[in-house]
Amino acid sequence: LDNGLALTPPLGWLAWERFRCITDCAAEPDSCVSEALFRAQADRMAADGYLAAGYQYIIIDDCWSSHERDAEGRLQADPDRFPSGIKALSDYVHGLGLKLGIYGDYGTYTCGGYPGSIDHMETDAQTFADWEVDYVKLDGCYSDPDSMDVGYPEFGGYLNDTGRPMVYSCSWPAYQSNPDYPAIARACNLWRNFDDIQDSWDSVASIIDFYGDHQEELIPVAGPGHWNDPDMLIVGDFGLSYEQSRAQMAVWSVLAAPLIMSVDLRTIRPEYAAILQNSAALAINQDRLGIQGRRVFQDQGMEIWRRAITPQVDEQFSYALAFLDRRTDGTPSRLTMTLRELGLDSPTGYRVQEVFDGQSYGTLLPEDSITVHVNPTGVTFLRCDLVA
Ligand code: GLA
Ligand code: GLA
Repeated sequence: LDNGLALTPPLGWLAWERFRCITDCAAEPDSCVSEALFRAQADRMAADGYLAAGYQYIIIDDCWSSHERDAEGRLQADPDRFPSGIKALSDYVHGLGLKLGIYGDYGTYTCGGYPGSIDHMETDAQTFADWEVDYVKLDGCYSDPDSMDVGYPEFGGYLNDTGRPMVYSCSWPAYQSNPDYPAIARACNLWRNFDDIQDSWDSVASIIDFYGDHQEELIPVAGPGHWNDPDMLIVGDFGLSYEQSRAQMAVWSVLAAPLIMSVDLRTIRPEYAAILQNSAALAINQDRLGIQGRRVFQDQGMEIWRRAITPQVDEQFSYALAFLDRRTDGTPSRLTMTLRELGLDSPTGYRVQEVFDGQSYGTLLPEDSITVHVNPTGVTFLRCDLVA
């Protein structure tokens, strides 16, 4: 969507994967979907380095609203869990230097059964603008997927009409069997393609496979202002090992994916926070060319994912290379290849460095070979800077 926003993939935090639709604040005062939760997570984003690293959007997901619209037909926040209302929350996060996102649904109800926007699109877009929201995730439960090709652009038009810049995150293709991606890229800043992420490596692995298997269709539609969205980062939650967490961060960076954390920032362990804040990984994710990377090699459980990045000279690019070991039989894999075999053929060579550990592999020419070790269900993530 050419609205001047999301020129690099959005970075932020979204409540859903970690906090779901917890509404019983008496039983779960620290985890229920409430203004207290968003304030607490926003505080951590601002104070613990996430905002400084680039994570800017704090996004409300489902189950924030009342089951009833107000007398004027507008959405309203649940009065018990958001007693100050969304505008006050928006002011609070803006005061910290963050931006606020909110969730709606294109159909008659949200996936969690709260009011949907289908008969109230113009009103709801204006309500979000009045609350000074900066990002809208529009889900697609309880609607006819065939109508989305008209309905999602219509809602986007109403967002645009408000005059307030708002990132538009669409779930449209995730509900369709044969999405019109060029149309979706014109109407949305990002869009969910596939299943919801869950807190497990199996889930992450299935998403990685989906993006590899559909890359010829998905790569061409990604770029500045319009991104494929493989769903949230679950780094720091319960389901991924340390190695798997690095693997998710690396593959999402190669995919030029939005990096939307969903983790309790009050209790995240420091080594996981360090993965999320790794400046070299974030620099690859945020590379201004916005070229989505691809799976270039797949053999016996080993995969190589490659993304062209800056610095660039004419048709020669720098590259990020994620070596992913999908095997679980217990020992690190070793792989030796020449740079030319990896698709890096500039005669001037490349300066090669590991992203997470910073280990240098020196300056290598296309005929030079490189040996990488990759831990089981882990990644070795290389940045190869073109020598000018
Ligand atoms: C759908 C979406 C999720 C989340 C839930 C909320 O499943 O794909 O990301 O928003 O709805 O109910
Ligand atoms: C093509 C296929 C992908 C992947 C790569 C590997 O691009 O579409 O699924 O197998 O080849 O080179």
